[in-house]
Amino acid sequence: MAKEKTVSAVPQHVAIIMDGNGRWAQKHHLPRLSGHEAGRKSVKQVVQAAIHHGVRYLTLYAFSVENWQRPREEVQGLMGLLRGVIREELNEMGKEGIRLRTIGRKQDLPDAVREELEAAIERTKENQRLDLILALSYGSRAEITEAMQAIGREVKDGKLDPDKIREETVSAHLYTHGIPDPDFLIRTSGEMRISNFMLWQISYAEIYVTPVLWPDFGKEEFAKALEDYAGRERRFGGI
Ligand code: IPE
Ligand code: IPE
Ligand code: MG
Repeated sequence: MAKEKTVSAVPQHVAIIMDGNGRWAQKHHLPRLSGHEAGRKSVKQVVQAAIHHGVRYLTLYAFSVENWQRPREEVQGLMGLLRGVIREELNEMGKEGIRLRTIGRKQDLPDAVREELEAAIERTKENQRLDLILALSYGSRAEITEAMQAIGREVKDGKLDPDKIREETVSAHLYTHGIPDPDFLIRTSGEMRISNFMLWQISYAEIYVTPVLWPDFGKEEFAKALEDYAGRERRFGGI
């Protein structure tokens, strides 16, 4: 469906590829895990800034399906960190009106992390100020493949006519069903790539890449990015 040309002030949905923790650690002569720990402060600041600016959905790419290939020690460290953050921030999420959600292969996560996550998702499901969506064991191609499998099953069972498959049908089978597409995609640490993140959903997102490493990305950097977004003209293929 064609959208009207718009100059929107604040993006409804911001998605962030939080990259550069390892390089930050290296720069400070610290182990990689210290970089991930330092990144936690940025998450907190950006969540608060998103609320402050009136962003309604914030998706954070925290762990990709490909990231399981990293050394076991780093993966375990990241999982431990994740579990700690969810547990320690749960009360705050309640107070701030944050609804926690996830996209990705939740079944891949260690039991302890998954249980903590599911409890937090349940506890915050009525909150309406900000949807905080964590992409965990997320891969866009895996997501699209799973959607194809589900659609294929529905066709096979006679529940879906292949000629009636619409763009909305595909969207409805993605992890993000019910979540509007990101308007604004931020990637930190300067890498000019998407790394298997929301390939379908970012079709018309405005892209912002900053050289700032994720642990150095705070509320000022977020405000700067939003300012840049406000100056963009989104045309959606129109003129
Ligand atoms: C991003 O930082 C965090 C995760 C992928 C979990 P990196 O760990 O990728 O940091 P760099 O890219 O090595 O600097
Ligand atoms: C993308 O960062 C994934 C996350 C931020 C979780 P990576 O560091 O894993 O991506 P590449 O290796 O630079 O493509
Ligand atoms: Mg990286």
